[in-house]
Amino acid sequence: MASPRGEFSSRFGFVMAAAGSAVGLGNIWGFPTQAASNGGAAFLLVYLVLAFTLAYPALMAELIIGRHAHANAVNALRLISPNTALRNLGAATGIAGFIVASLILSFYAIVAGWMLAFCLSSLASLLDMAVLVSWLTSFGIGRNVLFMLIFMAFTIGIISAGVRDGIERWSARLMPALLLTLFLLVVYVLTLDGAMDGLRVYLLPDFERALSPKLIIAALGAAFFSLSLGVGTMLIYGSYINDDENLPVVGGLVTLVDILIAVLAGFLVLPAMYVALHNGVEIFSATGELISEDTLIFTVLPELFATMGFTGIVVSFTFFFLMSTAALTSSISMLEVPVAYVIEEHGLKRKTAVFTIGGIIAIASIVILLNFEALFGLVIAFTTRYSQPLLGFMFCLYAGWVWHRDALLQELRKGNPGVEHSLFWKIWPWYVKLVCPVIIVGIFVQSLWG
Ligand code: PFF
Repeated sequence: MASPRGEFSSRFGFVMAAAGSAVGLGNIWGFPTQAASNGGAAFLLVYLVLAFTLAYPALMAELIIGRHAHANAVNALRLISPNTALRNLGAATGIAGFIVASLILSFYAIVAGWMLAFCLSSLASLLDMAVLVSWLTSFGIGRNVLFMLIFMAFTIGIISAGVRDGIERWSARLMPALLLTLFLLVVYVLTLDGAMDGLRVYLLPDFERALSPKLIIAALGAAFFSLSLGVGTMLIYGSYINDDENLPVVGGLVTLVDILIAVLAGFLVLPAMYVALHNGVEIFSATGELISEDTLIFTVLPELFATMGFTGIVVSFTFFFLMSTAALTSSISMLEVPVAYVIEEHGLKRKTAVFTIGGIIAIASIVILLNFEALFGLVIAFTTRYSQPLLGFMFCLYAGWVWHRDALLQELRKGNPGVEHSLFWKIWPWYVKLVCPVIIVGIFVQSLWG
């Protein structure tokens, strides 16, 4: 017998959970470094415009379909299809979504494990345990597997408690903690020497770079990854919202929180890099570009913390705690996608489903770790560069072309009886029907060439 479906208990609970999914390593790590090397404030502007005009409409497509069906993506896309061919295509899209969500989790858990290890290394350095610190901060199979498993255990623990007692409760605890930690770190870093140079790089717009087509497409890809689109995560969270909720408003809140945290993270990471430069740490690569991605997080920032003595240990712990928290509220949303599917489709108990699927994903992570050079980058490219935009395209097609417009309006009216007179209803259906699919195909074609 399948367990009864869960439901979020409040708007706050839903917004924290969905924003928790959206806010992850993509916001705190990806966005600031991309902004830094791609035109600063101009990139920020392009990102803001794209997030509201394209990613938000695509997010709404998933939320509305999910809330209407109160089911996982496979059943939801079947339900809104008028004939067998479209039903089968919908089911295939849903299944592809849950495979991609699982694959994203298999590499995300590895990276999140590194964050946990670095967090713990700050405590170890407090106790002067140099050997342990070196083990925790060096790339080795033992450390990688152990911390990936610890991170997966947290994710599995939360998801096995269900929608309200797991996802909602933990997102509602962790998200405010994340915001507070981020805020405190920003305030602290801005007081340090060199921080203003970083702020200048972040906030001085270089429109020539930001308006290049390649960059616009990169910003859109980042916005899609950041809002967790295309794999059915937002659809399944939408399916747990009650019928009285005003969807365009809650979707807007989630988009706002996601953007706000990305922007705030820019006020931390960029100034921190220039504080590092001020303290003698190298932040430019051999080609003269700002160091970003893994080198920044695992080399530049730890070197910066090391120059700050005892305070550095506290700041390092806080920073990697922030990263781990952000990763956890995202990873639970990834695991919920396949779990909801097997519970609803195959009648498994939640705990059985969570442990089985969580176990399979952990094995996939170990396979990636054992073949790191060959697989790590490949899985990231396959899932985020190719699959997410393509599947996002399918969700927009289903919301825009397959689902009957009257049924869609009916769904929106539930939480907002006057919605047909709103600006949202005048614009959104066209966006999701025409603009979003065209742009997503644009990203896809570009990523094939890029
Ligand atoms: N939005 C997350 C981030 O910015 O790190 C990543 C993500 C979460 C992607 C959930 C896909 C997903 F289903």
